[in-house]
This record gives sequence, structure tokens and C-alpha cells, in this order.
Amino acid sequence: MAHGRITGWATHLPERILTNHDLAELVDTSDEWIRERSGIGARHVDGKVTEMSVEAGRDAMAMAGVDPSDVDLLLLATCTSDQQFPASASVVQNELGMSCGAIDLNAACSGFVYGLVTAMQFAEGGVETILVIGSDALSGITDWTDRGTCVLFGDGAGAVVIQRSASTPTLLGWDLMSDGSAASILTCEHGGKIFMNGKEVFRRAVLALEAAATNALERAGVTMDDITLVVPHQANIRIVDAALKRLGIPMDKAAMVLERTGNTSAASIPLAFVDALDKGRVEPGDLVLMVGFGAGMSSAAAVVRWDPPGA
Ligand code: COA
Repeated sequence: MAHGRITGWATHLPERILTNHDLAELVDTSDEWIRERSGIGARHVDGKVTEMSVEAGRDAMAMAGVDPSDVDLLLLATCTSDQQFPASASVVQNELGMSCGAIDLNAACSGFVYGLVTAMQFAEGGVETILVIGSDALSGITDWTDRGTCVLFGDGAGAVVIQRSASTPTLLGWDLMSDGSAASILTCEHGGKIFMNGKEVFRRAVLALEAAATNALERAGVTMDDITLVVPHQANIRIVDAALKRLGIPMDKAAMVLERTGNTSAASIPLAFVDALDKGRVEPGDLVLMVGFGAGMSSAAAVVRWDPPGA
């Protein structure tokens, strides 16, 4: 029986960069405060979900050697679709020249892991080639007068191609969760801007990361010591630090791009993962733990055995 595995990957960031110093001219803040309280130095802004998704998706397919006409399903994780409908996935599908089902999937910042886990189930069910994209343009729904939120968010996209070509499973364990009772602490109405109770999100995020990671590891039948690389959602370095401490994972196992991207929601995990791949931090056979949380409050984790093509 064949299993899904990742055969291509790519990311995209919009051109315009907003540094902490730029923000200090908009609101009463400072580079020092933002770095110390969040670990963020800069973020990319003015992105469009469909445009960023097309760039990342095209490059991931090129890397996998997959023709767009061969893709059987497009899953686009986003909470900032360019329009209410049609799904951004339909726009992306058309622009990339694909002929397949296309759906938006909204699990906020947990979206990419939700998409990856979902795609792997389709692969197990017999679907040959799936394009999974995590893409968000939070800059469009950020209140640029609110210093409590505007320093945190940015735009970006990351894509992976999943092909049903592995002889052994690559998704070893996963956990998807949502606690809708906490929906009001991080929310954005149609046409509105992000509202966030930062302290409460922080507190719950640490616990959600810990629970999701623990469940996924247990289901995979492995321990923290077996994990080579942790790819956490890039929201705040202090959240990652606190969660990894509780899990007993050293910080040097974490893939981090937060300093130059800010929180890019569904794009954050693929951005950090691809960066770690580019730096040669993962060898074939290594176990990678992806773990995220977000509005909902959603949370998601996946333990993946790295099995690139040709390994
Ligand atoms: N620059 C300077 N001062 C700021 C500021 C900024 N950008 N934002 C807030 N402050 C001030 C506050 O007004 C407060 O001042 P006060 O004590 O005079 O009232 C002080 O800094 C401390 O604020 P506080 O909210 O306690 O800071 P914090 O250490 O909790 O950090 C966050 C704030 C938002 C960085 C933090 O709560 C956080 O990261 N929360 C989770 C956010 C998140 O991950 N969201 C996405 C989830 S997917």
C-alpha cells in the first residue's frame, strides 16, 4: 500500500517589509519592546492570499516535478481569503492551470497542520497528488492604530506537494483540536479588524501547544527524544519557549523565522519548516514535530518522518 509524502515545498513573502522602527512611527512602541516581548524584528505586509499562494504553489509543484494538470486536489489553509466567496482556492486553482477540487480550510494559525493531516488522509484513501498551501495576509485585517496587536502580524505563504509514493507511512501521529468556548479572545468580524486578548491567548496557547504535541507524539508511539526538529507556530518567542520547556524540548531543536516574518498565521509553519530544510537541519528518516495553535482556539500537531524523494 502506498502512503502520502512531501515531494515538493516552497514559500513566498510579499516584497514590502515593515520593521519595528517603521511601526514606532505609527504607534507608541519601540524596537526594544517588540523584540523583548515577542521576538519579532520585522514582517512582510501588503500581501494577497491568492497571489502569494500562486507563487508558493507553482514553485512547490516545480520542485516536485508535478505538472499542475496532475494535481488531484488543492487544500488552501487561510483565514484571510481575498473575498468572502468564491474560495481563494478556486482562484489559485485557475491561475495555476489545475483541474481538480479546490477548497479553503479555515483553522486560523493551525491551518497548515490541519491541511497537512487532511491531505494525508486523502492520500491514504487513494488520491495521488495533493497541493497543500498555508497562506495568510493578516496585514489587511490589522488595526494599525492598536499597538497591542499591530506589532505581531505579517503576511506570507508556504506550500507542499503530497504524493502517494511512499512505501511506509510518513505521518506517524497527529492531533487536531478546537476549543470554541474561547473563540471570543481572538476574533475578527467580517469587514473588521483583529481583536485579541493577548494575555489570555498567551496563557491558553502554551497549554494548547503542550497538549497537541503530547497527543501527537503518543499516537506516533515516539517520545520527545526521538524528535530532531520542532516546527512551532511562529506567534511569540516567549510562547514557544514556555511550551517547549513544559515539553522538555531544548529551544535549539525549534525552527524559528519569527524574527523576520512576525506571525503569518497558516503560513508560519511551512515558512519555518522550509527554512530549516534549506539550512540542512533535517535528514531523511528524521522525525519532525509540527505544532500550532490559533483562533478558535484551534490547535494541531503532526509527527512526520522525513522521507523526501530520492532519499
Ligand atoms: N509597545 C509598547 N508597549 C506596549 C505594546 C507595544 N507594542 N503593546 C502593549 N504595550 C504595553 C501595554 O499597554 C502594557 O502597558 P501598561 O502596563 O501601562 O498597561 C504593557 O505594555 C504590558 O502589556 P501586556 O499586555 O502585559 O504585555 P505582554 O507581556 O502580555 O505582551 C503580547 C503582549 C501581545 C505580546 C502577548 O500577550 C502575546 O504575545 N500574546 C499572545 C498573542 C498571540 O500569540 N496571538 C496570536 C495567536 S495565533
